Amino acid sequence: MSAPAGVIGRPQPRVEGRDKVTGAARYAVEHPADGTAYGWAVQATVAKGRIVRIDATEAERESGVLAVLTFETAPRLNPTGSPELLLLQQPRVRYRGEIVALVVAESLEAAREGARLVRIDYDTEPHSSVLTERHPSLYTPERVNPAYPTDTSVGDFDSGYQAAEVRLDQTYRTPAYHNNPMEPHAATAHWADGRLLVRDSSQGTTDVRGDLGSLFELPTGAVRVTAEHVGGGFGSKGTTRCTPVLAAMAARQVGRPVRLALTRQQLFGPIGYRTPIIQRVRLGADADGRLAAICHDAISQTSTSIEFAEQTAVLTRALYAAPHRRTTHRLARLDVPTPSWMRAPGECPGSFALECAMDELAVACGVDPVELRLRNDTDVDPEEGVPFTSRNLAACLREGAERFGWARRDPAPGVRRDGRWLVGTGMASAIYPARTPGATAEAVAEPDGTYRVRINATDIGTGARTALWQVAVDALGVPGDRVAVSIGDSDLPPAYVAGGSMGTAGWGLAVHRACEGLRRQLDGEYAGSAPPDGLAVRVDTMEETTALPTAPRYSFGAHFVEARVDVDSGEIRVPRMLGVFAVGRVVNPTTARSQLIGGMTMGLSMALHEEGVLDQRFGDWVNRDLAGYHVSVCADVETMEAYWVPDEDRGNPLGIKGMGEIGIVGSAAAVANAVHHATGLRLRTLPIQLDELVDRLPTG
Ligand code: MOS
Repeated sequence: MSAPAGVIGRPQPRVEGRDKVTGAARYAVEHPADGTAYGWAVQATVAKGRIVRIDATEAERESGVLAVLTFETAPRLNPTGSPELLLLQQPRVRYRGEIVALVVAESLEAAREGARLVRIDYDTEPHSSVLTERHPSLYTPERVNPAYPTDTSVGDFDSGYQAAEVRLDQTYRTPAYHNNPMEPHAATAHWADGRLLVRDSSQGTTDVRGDLGSLFELPTGAVRVTAEHVGGGFGSKGTTRCTPVLAAMAARQVGRPVRLALTRQQLFGPIGYRTPIIQRVRLGADADGRLAAICHDAISQTSTSIEFAEQTAVLTRALYAAPHRRTTHRLARLDVPTPSWMRAPGECPGSFALECAMDELAVACGVDPVELRLRNDTDVDPEEGVPFTSRNLAACLREGAERFGWARRDPAPGVRRDGRWLVGTGMASAIYPARTPGATAEAVAEPDGTYRVRINATDIGTGARTALWQVAVDALGVPGDRVAVSIGDSDLPPAYVAGGSMGTAGWGLAVHRACEGLRRQLDGEYAGSAPPDGLAVRVDTMEETTALPTAPRYSFGAHFVEARVDVDSGEIRVPRMLGVFAVGRVVNPTTARSQLIGGMTMGLSMALHEEGVLDQRFGDWVNRDLAGYHVSVCADVETMEAYWVPDEDRGNPLGIKGMGEIGIVGSAAAVANAVHHATGLRLRTLPIQLDELVDRLPTG
């Protein structure tokens, strides 16, 4: 039996680990069901225009094809739904790759062949799909995600900047990034007894249930969405995507369960992506590198369907002190799929620009980059003037420098050689908001002496189920093998999506409160007697979380990277990445480390590999699989270390901050800064690839 209490903070393997490695864990399209049919999506081949004719006769004649859903034949959806989800309702095409038909068949092969046979004629219109600084459609959104002011200003940036001894004004560019979770976006839908049942690959089924209920005009009780196991999401499954909607439409049409899984290629666009971004950063400082003025201007894109306003410059509002400051966001409305969430939306690309600029300032002032960050550290939020709940950035910087061996660093760029390799080191800071959303949870004392915790949290591969089990075991004070956690089902008490690094903090609090309440009843009213069968305590922490202190609350971190660049070929290797983080109370060190190094790996990938290459002529990405769109693989990742510092923070009752995203924040900048230190070349456009370096390196 496991220890009765104190499992929080102890390394724990995933409670569903055995199911996952034995294949017993089932994902969205892996549940067997009699009479299952298969869907295959047909995508538009023009970037903008109108379907003038869809001919499905040949497809319908194909053996095994059951139905071809088009804007003319698909079930009607409630027109008040999000334009993104009103699929197959009208003939307009808003981007190349938009799903314009769905073929449903007895087998996947027949559905695929049917899809090939659907003939579509379009009236095409001129399109614009490439983001530029002066794009004619640029506008100022009312807010940026999730609800931040678009622009902020404190002091007088222009005069503060003009008066500064050292001034830096640079522009940084990042391309489109595509989420590539192992499990693609997929759903199985089934209508039975007037109820719609969907198994979805989603970060939060409470919202999916709500969207489906509204689109199909069904009462809440008539829709159930489950996501028992999810093979990654990174934000791309954080809002309702096309898959559950199309699967539900198809299942209604053919009167059978329908499975729909997008192909790897179909993920590049229809599910969302991180917008390309153009960022201008201006820093004004004294000769010792103390900032007087910071300005961060970000330009990104949205679509013609809905607005998505990436909060790129928001981190600059809180990271460093400076009396004069400004941040702005502008959006271009393009004929592209709507951008969406991708791990640390805003902070991730924003930190690439800000932390590269800080490195450039360090060089300009002749100040060590770690020392530069320490000099500009602040106890109060620099825009609000209010103290942070906790701010252990300096501890991360110092401990990271110590563990990495930063003190031995020669500041001069481009001077160290190890045979053919130019060797350099770089660093960057990280910041990510620590939020605690409200949730509902229920703790049940089962008649057999076990306990069940019920909450519609989702484990997208992070270890959420295990962390919640740890919280429950400690609050109930019973042996761990008597506690089971049920998650991933919209019939459970509703909870927020797995997103924004909020799961362990928000769901954890609700689970803690429910278990605490049950424990109190068992120790009070039912002390010494058997509780009634199924005694349950249900809590809603909304009131408690809205009443939490409003002081600025963030996780912090510091990245340290060694980069090596081949002097002849320009090949870049990163033999070592090290991060130290202040992330509040760590519930499960095993899965916490995985989250942090996973984020860092994604940052490495962003710095050196990932790039959605869009061809303006046809308005779509030319690389749309893992052969053309490179992500870091094991061979790219060498030594990867993640640590955390003590970070007492009572900004929520459990002291938990969350760590799903902070690992990616700043990591790409640290790589770029290390490449600069190795080569003396400053690359401000990601990814950094050998063709950018090869002609400019000193000859070997
Ligand atoms: Mo994450 S991008 O907040 O799901």
